[in-house]
Amino acid sequence: MADKAKFIEELQAKYTAKGEFITLGKAMLDGEVVKEVDINIPLKTINRHGLIAGATGTGKTKTLQVFAEQLSHKGIPSLVLDVKGDFSGIAEPGADIPIIKERYAKTGLPYEAQSFPVELMTISGEKGVKLRATVTEFGPLLLSKILDLNDTQSSIMSIVFKYSDDKGLPLIDLEDLKKLLQYLTDNDQGKADLKQNYGSISPASLGAILRSIVALEQQGATEFFGEPSFDVHDLLQTRDGKGVVNILRVQDIQNQPQLFSTFMLSLFAEIYMTFPEEGDTGKPKFVMFIDEAHLIFNEASKTLLAQIETMVKLIRSKGVGIYFITQVPGDVPENVLSQLGMKIQHALRGFTAKDRKEIDKAVENYPITEYYDAGQLIQNLGIGEAFITALNEKGIPTPLVHTFLISPESRMDVLTDAEVATLTNQSALVQKYEQSVNKDSAYEMLTTRMEQAVQAAAPEVKATVTKAQPSIFQEVIGSRAGQNFMSTLAREGAKFVLGMITGKRR
Ligand SMILES: Nc1ncnc2c1ncn2[C@@H]1O[C@H](COP(=O)(O)OP(=O)(O)OP(=O)(O)O)[C@@H](O)[C@H]1O
Ligand SMILES: [Mg+2]
Repeated sequence: MADKAKFIEELQAKYTAKGEFITLGKAMLDGEVVKEVDINIPLKTINRHGLIAGATGTGKTKTLQVFAEQLSHKGIPSLVLDVKGDFSGIAEPGADIPIIKERYAKTGLPYEAQSFPVELMTISGEKGVKLRATVTEFGPLLLSKILDLNDTQSSIMSIVFKYSDDKGLPLIDLEDLKKLLQYLTDNDQGKADLKQNYGSISPASLGAILRSIVALEQQGATEFFGEPSFDVHDLLQTRDGKGVVNILRVQDIQNQPQLFSTFMLSLFAEIYMTFPEEGDTGKPKFVMFIDEAHLIFNEASKTLLAQIETMVKLIRSKGVGIYFITQVPGDVPENVLSQLGMKIQHALRGFTAKDRKEIDKAVENYPITEYYDAGQLIQNLGIGEAFITALNEKGIPTPLVHTFLISPESRMDVLTDAEVATLTNQSALVQKYEQSVNKDSAYEMLTTRMEQAVQAAAPEVKATVTKAQPSIFQEVIGSRAGQNFMSTLAREGAKFVLGMITGKRR
């Protein structure tokens, strides 16, 4: 039996913050909840990132819900990447159910069922705030990588972007890009213009580029490219003092985790580019939670992983914290893991030799504790219990503590379709991004120019133009192309971010 009085005294001291903090639960000792010890996490070190890990069904997502709620109470907005689609209930008050009341009774903390302000977001055209980016924002480098172009084709892409820039032909969506490529290869004026100033494009290269674009469109990227492009400052809303919980529902692209990870990187980059450096404000500006993060890490390439590592480092000074939620810490690459200040470890199961290795590794990384046999207890933590270690206000790891987490104050279930409809219908942000604006961009401008050229031509030329053999452009657009977009997108997403950070993007 550990010395309870000593435990209380020690742990109280280590889990007390001078500045603002959030409370995640109560300490436990020898299987009992110790009401005297609140597990308080200082807001000051929330931007030092973290991990929520544990076997399936141990309470990771509910812990994330509690975390997001507590931040919201402090006026801190968050973004939750909801891969399983089981998070939306935070927009409705919790049910009056006995298990929750019992839980709160054990902690002695007050329970008040309540909802939190929520924005639902989408990158795939479902209900919610539509998150988009323009072709120009991606830039020729990344776009070439996404399209898996070879060096020759990539340099053509750079020329095309340069041309669009020089001639004031905005590239907003993929239609613009295709139209410009068509103009530069099928249209006499376009061809001449290009040849004179930039060199010519071989039909084979053009065909390859167009095929890649079509493949990209077939993977659902059409929705993603366009205007209005999403302003990341819209993630920072508060309502009645509560931080808005932005939920990006990505369950429909579970099978395409690369798109998800590339999107995530683009978001990191936007945040990095547009959020100012935050001095020591004592609290985070914004927190990002990535549930089912193993999906990203499993699929990510070395470049992408390296980029995540870099972004995790860079984004901290912008006052942004990132939390990865996954089953075992080993899902997160070592160099990212080593940068995570807070660890919330739910139960792990030691079924296989590999599992047991993971357990040993997890335990090795905890601060040494005299109160628990961590290796043994970690396999026996109850649902909604976790080992926690965080950073205190001085940035020093707090002692490992067996924590009895509070329950969410909001609904521990999803929204109904009707509730989703109401929520999105009432959202001003949904409205703001609802209609893709098709401004006069390359497509419209070039279509007009090409039509005028045909009108101006002699009647016999006109007839030839309309009856002409399908151009490479038409052939490619009409054909079904390969489906390798997503993997490429993920592989090269990193360079996109690099391009953005180095300012090449805009
Ligand atoms: N803090 C909590 N308070 C009350 N109940 C909880 C708590 N945490 C977990 N539970 C219960 O455990 C169930 C599973 O929790 P949760 O969905 O968070 O697990 P998970 O670790 O995210 O699982 P998965 O890996 O399958 O996503 C919940 O539906 C809830 O009934
Ligand atoms: Mg979960």
